[in-house]
Amino acid sequence: MTYFAGQAGKEDSSVLQAAIGLAEQIRAASDEIETGHRIPQSIAAAMKEAGQEAVARTAMDAHRLLTFEGYSLDLANERLLHEGEVVALTPKAFAVLRRLVEDGGQLVTKKELLRAGWADTHVTDGVLRVSILEIRRTLGDDPAAPRFIETVSRRGYRFIAPRTRSALVVPTAPPRGALVGREHVLAQLEDRLEHARRGERQVVFVSGEAGIGKTSVLEAFLARVAGDPDLSIASGACLEHYGAAEAYFPVLEALGRLVREPAGERVVRLLESHAPTWLVQLPWLEHSGDREAVHHKLLGVTKERMLREMAEALEALTAKTPLVLVLEDLHWSDYSTLDLLGMLARRQEAARLLVVGSYRPTDVIVASHPLRALIQELRVRRQCEDIALQFLSEADVAGYLAQRFGEPAFPPELAAAVHRRTDGNALFMVRLADELVTLGLLVEQQGHWRIAKPLDEIGGALPESLRELIDKQIARLEPAVQRVLEVAGVLGNQFTAGAVAAGLGEDPVAVEERCDSLSRQGQLVVPAALTVLTNGMPVAQYCFTHNLYPQVLSARVPAARRLRLHQRIGNWLEQTYG
Ligand SMILES: Nc1ncnc2c1ncn2[C@@H]1O[C@H](COP(=O)(O)OP(=O)(O)OP(=O)(O)O)[C@@H](O)[C@H]1O
Ligand SMILES: [Mg+2]
Repeated sequence: MTYFAGQAGKEDSSVLQAAIGLAEQIRAASDEIETGHRIPQSIAAAMKEAGQEAVARTAMDAHRLLTFEGYSLDLANERLLHEGEVVALTPKAFAVLRRLVEDGGQLVTKKELLRAGWADTHVTDGVLRVSILEIRRTLGDDPAAPRFIETVSRRGYRFIAPRTRSALVVPTAPPRGALVGREHVLAQLEDRLEHARRGERQVVFVSGEAGIGKTSVLEAFLARVAGDPDLSIASGACLEHYGAAEAYFPVLEALGRLVREPAGERVVRLLESHAPTWLVQLPWLEHSGDREAVHHKLLGVTKERMLREMAEALEALTAKTPLVLVLEDLHWSDYSTLDLLGMLARRQEAARLLVVGSYRPTDVIVASHPLRALIQELRVRRQCEDIALQFLSEADVAGYLAQRFGEPAFPPELAAAVHRRTDGNALFMVRLADELVTLGLLVEQQGHWRIAKPLDEIGGALPESLRELIDKQIARLEPAVQRVLEVAGVLGNQFTAGAVAAGLGEDPVAVEERCDSLSRQGQLVVPAALTVLTNGMPVAQYCFTHNLYPQVLSARVPAARRLRLHQRIGNWLEQTYG
């Protein structure tokens, strides 16, 4: 897997300036074509911001460490480790340090560092100095005799310690424990990749209901292939959204990640020559120039041109290194992304490209989403493969229990009971196993797990469905925490403490404390990167650890209250971001 230093500093090129307006124009046009209506700008901006943070946890960065002198940057979890222990660092300082380490040995200008940490927010050099101070203090680095970060007078900073670029830690097992029952799917994906390496473009869909294990199998696949230095991986995910989905959202996200990788400079150059309209949409590239003039010049550029540009750019890109492009949760996809998928699948030109998309078939059908028609058409023409994940078998469940509890000698009736209750849905199985422990059905004694109660209690004591499982989990929390979660659930997969507080009419700090305490207990939510309001105020963001949680939670809120919450939070978003 290639490891890259992102060099996004090409913003002065006239090609880019020219393309800025074009990109905006096309994106606006695509939104309108797709929906026929638009949501308020301020809300859209807030949602977009939330969305960009959410995909930061996709499989792309999984298992990568950048290592220097006993320290490692864990890119997937955005944290600094020292000899395996987590060292506290604010998200901004992490972003700055990451950029410096990635560009090790080279001058990184203040402007570039500000872009890495503060994206589009306008801040002064002072905030950068504070972050550098924090990093130096954390690393015990003396600015007068630096081991890590050298100041380059008036211009910026340089990371000077040797790094192990190749030190990608590629675990043999996927992050959340070894998968059961997915060997054949992994083998199918590997086989498709072999075809792609030979220049036969491949489009593969992995489908199945919520919780069946789509993300897990894709993560396991990426973990297997990530050790290959001759392969690039880019991944993005669609988000559940109100109103219009941003055009090309998951693709832009995936490209953004690719550009920030160590060989990102080459990707930028290729986009510049083949797909300038795409390059300017990548969030951290600076938007400058005379937009009006650019708009004028570029009137009449079509969506077709944009699609063709990307198809050609990907062909050029994969001429050197094969690419795996993962697009998750396509049942929420914007329509432009589907157009691109269709074009990528249909083109005859050689490309060492494997596109893997995941989706939930029921959601596609219920929402009459055009993904269904696209897949049907591509299947008829043999331009894609659709791998429908099967429910786990009883033997798989037995394998899972044996592995999770380190207990190969559980009686087969346990797996049979769990399988019966869960239908072999992986998420249900994991949750049910949690519940068995909570209810004292499985207990640990002297390092061994054993069944402590009659097995038929699984039937009596355990809920019928995951909804009930989650409801029970929530009911055990304090009422005030339950209220926070319900409002958060109404907001979707990712939420800010501020928006929840606005919905509840409560103090944002109190909401933040409740969310932090939940995440410390490993319950339902985890922190996402901070977001910064237009007035420079940082706001805590969180996301649910699984997207079934917001579904169950918001269903607990009666419709009339949900409507009132939407109105109240909408007003707050307008005032805060507007
Ligand atoms: N094959 C498996 N073996 C063991 N555990 C699994 C397996 N597949 C999934 N899991 C576990 O089940 C849970 C749900 O899996 P995952 O998130 O991959 O589902 P999904 O299909 O992507 O769901 P969604 O449609 O909501 O995105 C996770 O906790 C995961 O660790
Ligand atoms: Mg998933």
